[in-house]
Amino acid sequence: MTETDQEKLTWTHKHLLGLKDLTRREIEFLLDTARGFEEISTRSIKKAPTLRGKVVVNLFFEDSTRTRTSFTLAANRLSADVVEFTKKSSSVSKGETLIDTARNLEAMGIDIVVIRHNAGGAAKLLSRHINACIINAGDGYNEHPTQALLDVYTIRQVRGSLEGLKIGIVGDIAHSRVARSNIWAMTKLGAEVTLIGPPTLMPAKVNELPVRVSYSLDAVIQELDVINMLRIQFERLGGNPFPSVREYSHFFGLTVERVARAKPDLVVMHPGPINRGVEIESEVADGANSVILRQVANGLAVRMAVLFLVSQGVAEQSKER
Ligand code: CP
Repeated sequence: MTETDQEKLTWTHKHLLGLKDLTRREIEFLLDTARGFEEISTRSIKKAPTLRGKVVVNLFFEDSTRTRTSFTLAANRLSADVVEFTKKSSSVSKGETLIDTARNLEAMGIDIVVIRHNAGGAAKLLSRHINACIINAGDGYNEHPTQALLDVYTIRQVRGSLEGLKIGIVGDIAHSRVARSNIWAMTKLGAEVTLIGPPTLMPAKVNELPVRVSYSLDAVIQELDVINMLRIQFERLGGNPFPSVREYSHFFGLTVERVARAKPDLVVMHPGPINRGVEIESEVADGANSVILRQVANGLAVRMAVLFLVSQGVAEQSKER
């Protein structure tokens, strides 16, 4: 995208529900906007007045370390007021619905809702029932758009571009919203994505996704430029998708020995939280090829950009009316 094209592109989305429906240009615009926000985190006073007077609610129905903290910090750095909502200490325990909860919060004058929920489609549902901007921070197995945005942001930072890169996503694809958002973001930016794992952890209708599938990590490890190791989501597993954790690690774990057979500049990623010794050995997670903590750091600039752009999207939609 040239600078002139970039100037012409105006962000018009009031919500960020997923990446499936965004264009390549929109994703690139978002990543370029995030680059502009990186500098704020290097200041001695890490603040900009961009969202002064706005109220952001973190509406989390599932636990989170990275996403929640990162959205809180991002909103704080842009001078928004932040309200933290957790399911455990709320009236959801008394039977209040998601929509009633959100409507009550909206009655107090909120502008942006960042929602994580165990039901796929929860963010979209909310966008139809309240007027605030909605940002999806992970909904069931569906999407986790800001995770994928920080992933592709990190790959661009390390490799310059995703065009032509061979990227492997390994593990529990079936239960992974990260994998779904990764697939959309990475393929739209020109990468070739291979899903790697046992057949029991592949999603239904995998043949309808723009990906290759491999049931052997050893068969493809040598051709990969980037590898994204997913956590086995033990809390979502039904039945026994593999005989034992030990056997899973034997065939699909990223070990020092496997990295030694890969390209020397293989980029090793993980969205966190890590099950050390299951999907990745500690020496690899903490090793020279790993960009795992860089991913976390980049999440801040990406989430600042998302908060800023959805609030701009509201302004653009008002102009059109
Ligand atoms: N990657 C990710 O979503 O981590 P958290 O569950 O800690 O937010």
